[in-house]
Amino acid sequence: MDLSCTMIIFGGTGDLAHRKLMPAIYNLLHEKLLPENFAVVAVGRKEKTSEGYREEIYHSIREFSRFKVDEGTWNHLKDRIYYRTLDFLQEEAYISLEAFLRDKADQYHTKGNRVYYMAVAPEYFEGIVDKLHRHCMGGDVAGWQRVVIEKPFGRDLSSAKYLNDKIVQVFQEENTYRIDHYLGKEMLQNIMVLRFANMIFEPLWNNRFIDHIQITSSETVGVENRGDYYERSGAMRDMVQSHMLQLLSLIAMEPPNDLDTESIRNEKVKVLKALKKIEGKDVVENTVRGQYGSYEADNGKTPGYREEVRVDHRSVTETFVALRIFIENFRWAGVPFYIRTGKRMPEKSTEILIQFKTMENILYFKDKQLQPNILVIRIQPMEGVFFQFNAKEPGTRQRIIPVEMDFCQNCRVGINSPEAYERLLYDVMRGDATLFARWDEVEYAWKFIDSILEGWKDHIPVFPNYEAGTWGPKEADELLEKDQRNWINR
Ligand code: BG6
Repeated sequence: MDLSCTMIIFGGTGDLAHRKLMPAIYNLLHEKLLPENFAVVAVGRKEKTSEGYREEIYHSIREFSRFKVDEGTWNHLKDRIYYRTLDFLQEEAYISLEAFLRDKADQYHTKGNRVYYMAVAPEYFEGIVDKLHRHCMGGDVAGWQRVVIEKPFGRDLSSAKYLNDKIVQVFQEENTYRIDHYLGKEMLQNIMVLRFANMIFEPLWNNRFIDHIQITSSETVGVENRGDYYERSGAMRDMVQSHMLQLLSLIAMEPPNDLDTESIRNEKVKVLKALKKIEGKDVVENTVRGQYGSYEADNGKTPGYREEVRVDHRSVTETFVALRIFIENFRWAGVPFYIRTGKRMPEKSTEILIQFKTMENILYFKDKQLQPNILVIRIQPMEGVFFQFNAKEPGTRQRIIPVEMDFCQNCRVGINSPEAYERLLYDVMRGDATLFARWDEVEYAWKFIDSILEGWKDHIPVFPNYEAGTWGPKEADELLEKDQRNWINR
């Protein structure tokens, strides 16, 4: 397969390019997955030379690459990196950009193939795509042209539709890569294997045997320097609309007929279509919002959200969300999916916990409940699978205790899992969109989220309502307690 191409990164001076994209490109080269005919053109508003940019990127790669930087490999890559100063919305700037790209295509034999990566703030997506259109830089003019759009894809259904309409005027659906970096994580790709390649799981994967599912993605960091963006987004748009619903659809989907891109996406979108709408009075019943307050410890004070940089000191933006979701289909009717995500929580972790129904206690300790079986898929930072089952405690007394089987993937020597962006950039170059969101996935995710956001307008909680470093507001616990369940923080 010929992967020859030029990668044009709009937003080349931003955090994403420095921390993720450039280290991923370096790692792909290190793994010998980058094509020989390749160049990167980073585009940004700041004035700088290609030499100066390369120097900065070198430091970022040293800091963020999962491999130690090898000077030979770096020199090979360095010569292929260019920087262009450009005002994204200025019409004429694209004329010289096009000339520059043509020149580099000739120099590196990239056959006119291009990947346009939108690593810019979302308000520029449309303007850039529009300029590419006007200057005939999109569409398959010569070779192929693909566009990678970072999330958030819109801020509600109507803005997402508007953006999508603009994009499809220029790039066909198969050339549009809506990135959700969670899909590039190793263990997410493992969910389908775990479910569909193991006899012991799939037959039990339904409402007859599963009591409920918990999906948690917690972070210890606050909003860092992203106050501007986060104020307009909040945890719901930032995490739930994309990452959390993607996790949910992989866990809940039916087996696809095939492993091809569309078969998998078809099954995922069916889950999103089957989500029971949360609206009206159900919003209060099924959703919880939180915002972190400050925390004082001996070693200093952790600021609350309202004290963060570029955040309104009366902000009502949520930094935590918990939801109780039902999927209206035969497999899942009646099984609650509890999802929660938040910033400034006690640990950085993403896990999916499947709690099976409790065994009828006919034989043992009729007065005491047996512990349920629990299967945990650990996405990060630990990658692996954990299973809890009941066994006899050794000894003469007849006692049953829960014991664990624990498979830790990244504890194994020699496993240095690729970063999500490596896999995803590689897939864009080889034209495989399986791990990217199709338009209808984005559309149905927004439909589900929009009605909750609408319902939230009527009730503004008193914020802040959880202390930094805790598992969110008490209402998040109550959400499960009213179902006689509780979050399992292991
Ligand atoms: C991003 C969100 O998409 O995902 C961030 O915008 C969040 O707010 C990040 O911190 C979490 O990603 P990861 O890979 O660190 O879990």
